[in-house]
Amino acid sequence: MRPKVYITRRIPEPGISLIEESCDVTLHPYDEPPAHEEIVNRIRDKDALLCLLSDRIDKEIIDAGTNLKVISTFSVGFEHIDVAEATRRGIYIGYTPGILTEATADLAFSLLLGVARRITEADRFLRGNRWRTAFSPSLLLGTSVWGSTLGIIGLGRIGKAVARRAKGFSMKVLYTKRTPLSREEELNLGVVYRPLEVLLEQSDFVSLHTPLNDETRHLINEARLRLMKPDAILINTARGPVVDETALVRALKGKWIAGAGLDVFEKEPIGPAHPLLHLDSVVLLPHLGSATMQARSKMAEVAASNLLAVLRGKAPPCWLNPEVENVRPLSRTRML
Ligand code: DGY
Repeated sequence: MRPKVYITRRIPEPGISLIEESCDVTLHPYDEPPAHEEIVNRIRDKDALLCLLSDRIDKEIIDAGTNLKVISTFSVGFEHIDVAEATRRGIYIGYTPGILTEATADLAFSLLLGVARRITEADRFLRGNRWRTAFSPSLLLGTSVWGSTLGIIGLGRIGKAVARRAKGFSMKVLYTKRTPLSREEELNLGVVYRPLEVLLEQSDFVSLHTPLNDETRHLINEARLRLMKPDAILINTARGPVVDETALVRALKGKWIAGAGLDVFEKEPIGPAHPLLHLDSVVLLPHLGSATMQARSKMAEVAASNLLAVLRGKAPPCWLNPEVENVRPLSRTRML
């Protein structure tokens, strides 16, 4: 019998066709994510689930999926999955680390440049037919990136990729991380450790690259925003809830900081009345960190390979919970 797979959204090729070669696929065909209740109903007879980070895969879904052997998420983030419960139930979890590192670092740097040089504001100015004088000495002045100081919070794969880009702009790169790098690694990457508070005080740009967990939720709160320089710019391509958005709006309106570039928000999508939409000092993007054709297509391929590997009784190439093998050995997930 072919395994039954539920896929919660159309992902780029070759993702779905790889799975369809050997499994019966039920695909949620709309752009809007399926309701939680719909996933609960669909999962009842499925052997595998391919989900997105906007699907909350909680205990109720895991309970309903009595045949479920693998959850493969089309994301590097996994805070939307109840990993402990899935593991307890012998469900393998695959994800997509590494693949979107460079794309996300590119986007973080685009935001940094975009806010510093007021790119989107200037574009709105021009399209709004407000460009009257050929060259104005003080029109839309931004701030210099070259030679400035960048503070990176969370120096994992993406943080390091941002640090490498910063070197090309002759930036001094500070970082903070729970476990600092070795001296040799610091020298190789050209980064200098600072405790969080000091980093915030000394940086012209602060870029966030931490995962979202209990320790990092609202890491950037009012007190920490107040430590930043008044001409500093905050960049967030990590997760929205790492920043207390209400405090950020106050910081921007009160000019405690000069601007922000945000690809992620506390609640996505943001509503039409969101106060950030009325501020010129921000550049806002709809969660596009990994949105290159190359990265998304590779993510789809890895998500499919993770799922198929488990159904073949093999270790998923990008495996989040190897301890699950103690609950259900791979020999008992094999259907293909
Ligand atoms: C992820 O994968 O976690 C990103 O946020 C989206 O690609």
